[in-house]
Amino acid sequence: MNASCGQRSVSLRLSVTGRCPLRCQYCVPASGYRFEGENSLSLSEMTAFVEFLQETYGLRKVRITGGEPLIRPDIEQLAACLSALGVPDVALTTNGQQLASRAVTLRQAGVRRINVSLDSLDPAVFRRLTGHGVLEKTLAGLAAARDAGLLPIRLNTVVMRGENETEVEHLLDFALRNGFEIRFLEVMPIGAMRESFEKHFVSSAETMRRIAAHHELHPASPTGTARNFAVKDRDGRAGIVGFISPISEPFCATCRRLRLTASGDLIGCLGKDSRFPVRPFLRRDRFQELQEIVDTALSTKRRHEEFRGEASMAVIGG
Ligand code: GTP
Ligand code: 5AD
Ligand code: SF4
Repeated sequence: MNASCGQRSVSLRLSVTGRCPLRCQYCVPASGYRFEGENSLSLSEMTAFVEFLQETYGLRKVRITGGEPLIRPDIEQLAACLSALGVPDVALTTNGQQLASRAVTLRQAGVRRINVSLDSLDPAVFRRLTGHGVLEKTLAGLAAARDAGLLPIRLNTVVMRGENETEVEHLLDFALRNGFEIRFLEVMPIGAMRESFEKHFVSSAETMRRIAAHHELHPASPTGTARNFAVKDRDGRAGIVGFISPISEPFCATCRRLRLTASGDLIGCLGKDSRFPVRPFLRRDRFQELQEIVDTALSTKRRHEEFRGEASMAVIGG
């Protein structure tokens, strides 16, 4: 592999569908969005891309994402293919609504760990923030994932002004009580948040101050995009809290993430609108051309001051 040329390895976020039954405020515009018929890549096209990345760059992680990946019945099959290829870290990001019935089969198929969106513990707020999500379903999914050994379980909470910023301590205590890691995210001005970003933005510094009022935080090793802290609650329960701060502390300088959409567009950066269609190149005899495209995608990272994105996370792969 080209890692011998000194290239650093990459990680891939594989969006297996642009569809999601939920309508999260930070993702789907109030006017809704219309799904065109989706001509998804086949599992063999997806695995061809994974093999190419392994051979050419070194691949440390594949995160299966969406839209909501679990609306597809063949995710276990995909995970089994990725495991068979020897991908070291097969992870999944989900809204958790259908997780309860899939946790065991996902684990058996080789998914190691999951990240689950959880923006509120109040059923009414949860429903409002997600369009029509049912909190109990996500909580049941989390319990099933823990029983199945999909560990560590990480919760993603996008902190939004006027919506859930006063719930962060409660969410943290819930995570510590249940042995979950939790990461608080700054909202990004993409998708539904392009227009109302300023109104909703809460910095990680503010969230951290809120937490530090009643919890001691001690710096711990970072993971991926998150700055982590060891934390204890008032009853002495210990755990990890992370802060993902793409706005106040961008991590672009070290970013080697690639996103592949369900319809076969490669995206080098969340904060840019450039897309590179790769479907025709997902064949061994076209890997040379594919490498040029991937190199270009890897060089289209945003610069500090720019952050632009038409598409919502649902399409580009949360
Ligand atoms: P781990 O592998 O568990 O460390 O996490 P991850 O960062 O891959 O996980 P996850 O899918 O849960 O991502 C959490 C959130 O971080 C995403 O939903 C995004 O909001 C944000 N994020 C992830 N990757 C990027 C990125 O490349 N750029 C920016 N700006 N944000 C990102
Ligand atoms: N800003 C920040 N995070 C977002 N997500 C989706 N849209 C946004 C946005 N505008 C994240 C949420 C969700 C994941 C799939 O994508 O964390 O958990
Ligand atoms: Fe990578 Fe772009 Fe996200 Fe920065 S904004 S971390 S360059 S994907």
